Amino acid sequence: MYRLTEETATDWWEVEAIYDLCFAPGREALSSYRLRDGISAVRELSLVARDEDGILAGAIRFWPVRIGKRPALLLGPVAVHPTRQGEGLGGYLIQESLETARENDWKRVMLVGDASYYGRFGFNKLEGVEMPPPTNPERVLGQELVEGSWVGVTGMVQKADAE
Ligand SMILES: CC(C)(COP(=O)(O)OP(=O)(O)OC[C@H]1O[C@@H](n2cnc3c(N)ncnc32)[C@H](O)[C@@H]1OP(=O)(O)O)[C@@H](O)C(=O)NCCC(=O)NCCS
Repeated sequence: MYRLTEETATDWWEVEAIYDLCFAPGREALSSYRLRDGISAVRELSLVARDEDGILAGAIRFWPVRIGKRPALLLGPVAVHPTRQGEGLGGYLIQESLETARENDWKRVMLVGDASYYGRFGFNKLEGVEMPPPTNPERVLGQELVEGSWVGVTGMVQKADAE
């Protein structure tokens, strides 16, 4: 019913529009955006979902970050158009992109979000991993794509080094 493809330059404005629709105004003031400024999204993990008519129904983006010298993926934003929510599309976008992340040898992924939603995909609260303030530490969640990959990884989340 939905087709997932890598986001391209021509999708960009539509993806921005769906994020504007789904998130509170001022989303770009969130601390997670400071980690994205000037850094490209991870192209092969940033997906758009379109229906049979080509209408954009949801999107997910990922950015590279680091904790000390350890690289990690920052999942998000992910959003599903309000008229399409609750059909499993958010889960589909998350699971497909994480599968590709595993295949591409990423070891760990994190996000800022609700544990009650992301817990079902294997995300748990990260201890000792700090997002730039103001971020509620209860919402800093992570998942190991390789067993043990978050063990001993603590400190401030920083921007990936610019290419
Ligand atoms: C969060 C979001 C991406 C989920 O997409 P979706 O396609 O509706 O999700 P799914 O169909 O895979 O899952 C739906 C389930 O998630 C639950 N859910 C959605 N958002 C939730 C949240 N913030 N906290 C807890 N549960 C949530 C729904 O209640 C539903 O539960 P059910 O399966 O028990 O009925 C979508 O609701 C959305 O775009 N929301 C606005 C933007 C947003 O909050 N993005 C996430 C930032 S943390």
